[in-house]
Amino acid sequence: MRILLTGVSGQVGGALVPRLQGFGTVIAADASVLDFVQLADISGTLARLQPDLIINPAAYTAVDKAEDEPELALRVNAEGPAIVAQWAALHSVPLIHFSTDYVFNGAGERAWREDDAAHPLSVYGSSKLAGENAIRFAGGTFLIIRTSWVYAAQGKNFLRTISRLARERKELRIVADQIGAPTSAAVIADGVVAMLSPGLDAFRTRCTEAKGLVNLTVSGETSWHGFAVAIVEGLKARNVALAVEQVLPLTTEQYPTPAKRPRNSRLDLTRLHKIFGLTTPHWRDALRSELDALAPELAATPV
Ligand SMILES: NC(=O)c1ccc[n+]([C@@H]2O[C@H](COP(=O)([O-])OP(=O)(O)OC[C@H]3O[C@@H](n4cnc5c(N)ncnc54)[C@H](OP(=O)(O)O)[C@@H]3O)[C@@H](O)[C@H]2O)c1
Repeated sequence: MRILLTGVSGQVGGALVPRLQGFGTVIAADASVLDFVQLADISGTLARLQPDLIINPAAYTAVDKAEDEPELALRVNAEGPAIVAQWAALHSVPLIHFSTDYVFNGAGERAWREDDAAHPLSVYGSSKLAGENAIRFAGGTFLIIRTSWVYAAQGKNFLRTISRLARERKELRIVADQIGAPTSAAVIADGVVAMLSPGLDAFRTRCTEAKGLVNLTVSGETSWHGFAVAIVEGLKARNVALAVEQVLPLTTEQYPTPAKRPRNSRLDLTRLHKIFGLTTPHWRDALRSELDALAPELAATPV
C-alpha cells in the first residue's frame, strides 16, 4: 500500500511518519512535494504519486494570524483539501483529514458531538469547516478527525511555550475559562494507526458508519491554566530548573487575542468508542509521556 502523508514537518504528520511504516510505503510529502497554495498542481502531483491512501494533517494552523490572512487560510484548509478529496473520490482512494474544535462557537457545557451544528468564531475555524464541507461534498470514502489543543515534545505549541516561559519568568498568567482536552500528537497518531490496523476494507466500512466524521482527543478535560499548572509541576518533578513561582488564572476577557476561541471545546468521544472501538489516555498520562521526552532537552539547554 502506498500512503501519501502530508504535513510531515508538523506535529501530527511528524508523529505519524514512524508509526505508519508497518502499513506500506509512506510517501512523506512536505510542501515542496504537495503545496496546498499551488492549487493547479495538486491533481497532477496525486496522479504522479498514485497513493492508495491519503492522510492529510497539513493545514494553515496559525489561528491568530489567519484573521489577517483569510484567503491563504481558506486556500490551504479548504480549497486544497477539496481538490485532494475530489481526486481521492474519483480514484476510490480513502482520505483521512483533520479538523478542529474551533469549528464550534463554544456555547454550553456539554461535549460537542459530531452531528452538532458548527458555528466557528474565527477565520481559522471557518476555513477548517469549509474544508470539512468540501471533503463531504466530494463524496468518496473519507474520515475527518476532529481533535483539539494539539501539542508534542517537538514543534511549536503550548507545552513548549509554557516550558520556555516557566524558565524565564516568575509569574505566568493563563486563561482559565476555556475548557478542552490538550491532545498530544502521539495520541492522535496512535488513534489513526489503531483505526487502520484491521485493514483498509474494515476502515472503509467504519468511515461510512461514522458518516465520515469522528472526534479524537485525549480523555478528561482541563483549562489552559490547568494544563499550564500540570506542565510546570511535571517539569519540576523532572528536576528542570524553573524561574516560575506562580501560575495565575485569567479570564478570556483579560487576555484578548485577534481570533476568538470557544470557551467550551469539549469533544464527545462516544462515536470513537462505539464505531472504532477506541479509548484514549487521560490528558495527564499523555502529558507525562511528552514531558519525559522534553525534560532531558530542557535540562541540557541553558535558558
Ligand atoms: N495545532 C492544534 O492545536 C490543532 C487543534 C485542532 C486541530 N488541529 C488540526 O490538526 C491537524 C494537524 O495539526 P498540527 O498541529 O500537526 O499542525 P502543525 O504542527 O502546525 O503542522 C502543519 C503542517 O502543515 C504544513 N503546511 C502548512 N501550509 C502548507 C501548504 N501550503 N502546503 C503543504 N503543507 C503545508 C506545515 O508545513 P511547514 O512546516 O512547511 O509550514 C506543517 O507540516 C491540522 O488539520 C489542524 O488544523 C490542530
